[in-house]
Amino acid sequence: SDGALPFVPARGGIPALRRAAADCRGCALYADATQTVFGAGRARARVMLVGEQPGDQEDKAGEPFVGPAGHLLRKVLGEVGIDEEEVYFTNAVKHFKFAPVTEGRKRRIHKAPNLSELTACRPWLDAEVRRVNPELLVALGATAGKSLLGRSFKVTEARGTLLPLAAGGDLPLDVEGADSDAHRHCLATVHPSAVLRAKDRREAYAGLVSDLRVAAQFLG
Ligand code: URA
Ligand code: SF4
Repeated sequence: SDGALPFVPARGGIPALRRAAADCRGCALYADATQTVFGAGRARARVMLVGEQPGDQEDKAGEPFVGPAGHLLRKVLGEVGIDEEEVYFTNAVKHFKFAPVTEGRKRRIHKAPNLSELTACRPWLDAEVRRVNPELLVALGATAGKSLLGRSFKVTEARGTLLPLAAGGDLPLDVEGADSDAHRHCLATVHPSAVLRAKDRREAYAGLVSDLRVAAQFLG
């Protein structure tokens, strides 16, 4: 399957992409989710933050990073001096994937997208990178890291250092745009929801802060 590719419009800015993504059927994830949660934020941002997929609250609101993980992320951005108004937020996968709803649970439990879903949704991320044209992509967690830097990506090995995006792995940006990625950098860190789940939450929080300080320094 071509995944999302047939649904991606050749022309138009982020609003046109968002409208088209609302009707994406590039993989099976649209079927159970409430809606497509497209990227949001500054349309020409120097930094793009890439998460995994929308969570329960994002699925309902139709906006990325509005739930607990987003709250923590915005707090860290403030702490390192990155203005959240200057950032574009998005996810590697645009539909919420969750385990079958069980009786008595208020929140649906998120399930990590698999490689085929990641690949299917990748054309949307490519299109966002083309339109927003960021200097820096921040991969939040392993899923975003795999999408941007290849499937052998490991957060623990790569986190906190600036990497050239063009050196990416086996899920490369489309060939047509490969040259224009030469100037882009990527910085990987943990996912903010991993901080919320961590046994030592203070340590995990400090790690996210220290990684995002590298992004803040890069941006000057
Ligand atoms: N986690 C993500 O990866 N993305 C969101 O938008 C919200 C939570
Ligand atoms: Fe399309 Fe991505 Fe949603 Fe799959 S997850 S239907 S590829 S927008």
